[in-house]
Amino acid sequence: MSDRTRTIEKRYDRVSGIYNMMDRMIKDSWRQGLLSSVQGKVLEVGVGTGANLPFYPAGAEVTGIDFSKGMLNQARKKLYQLHTENHIRLIEMDAQDLQFSDQIFDFIVSTCVFCSVPDPIKGLRELGRVCRPDGKILMLEHMRSENKVAGVIMDLLNPLTVRLWGANINRRTLDNIRCAGLTIEESEPIYGSIMKKLIVSRNNSMQNAIKLVN
Ligand SMILES: C[S@@+](CC[C@H](N)C(=O)[O-])C[C@H]1O[C@@H](n2cnc3c(N)ncnc32)[C@H](O)[C@@H]1O
Repeated sequence: MSDRTRTIEKRYDRVSGIYNMMDRMIKDSWRQGLLSSVQGKVLEVGVGTGANLPFYPAGAEVTGIDFSKGMLNQARKKLYQLHTENHIRLIEMDAQDLQFSDQIFDFIVSTCVFCSVPDPIKGLRELGRVCRPDGKILMLEHMRSENKVAGVIMDLLNPLTVRLWGANINRRTLDNIRCAGLTIEESEPIYGSIMKKLIVSRNNSMQNAIKLVN
């Protein structure tokens, strides 16, 4: 794990005890809307304190990963209180170096994660690798505003948010997704251009590349 990754991980450990009080960014109805269609084998990256766990439909087999022990401990408490019948396991793992074989998940979920992953393109490539060719990556991600003035303000504030809790507020996440070789199938603004619901898939060239290697 790189020094940069360890630094961001420690920042999330530091805020984990108060994270649920701090975080009001994603409405429960947005989480529910994103997750209502998932089924089969699901990977949630950056599961955090487990805010999405109540919204998985019955029968989904969920693996939640996060690199912060503190955040995972909060997620475990949440899971214990949920009494869900879904099979949910929580594992400490870095999204940039997933310990799973290729093409095994039907759905991959990330909500407000790629603002913090130290090398977002590396992390997104990993999502593409473990997603089945016909699988979907569902995201609710905040990113740099398309409004020029708001974008510059976000650039100015970014060093502060990174220092406080590890999140970049000015990431160009749509560009990062494309750079990682993934295809944005749907992009729905849910809070101006700052918060978007995204449906992403592996693109054909990636699938062809894997076919050639095999
Ligand atoms: C802003 S929080 C969002 C948590 C949760 N997804 C939610 O919607 O409330 C970002 C989470 O991503 C995790 N994270 C960031 N980079 C990561 C990485 N490289 N590997 C695993 N988890 C990561 C952080 O530890 C944190 O729990």
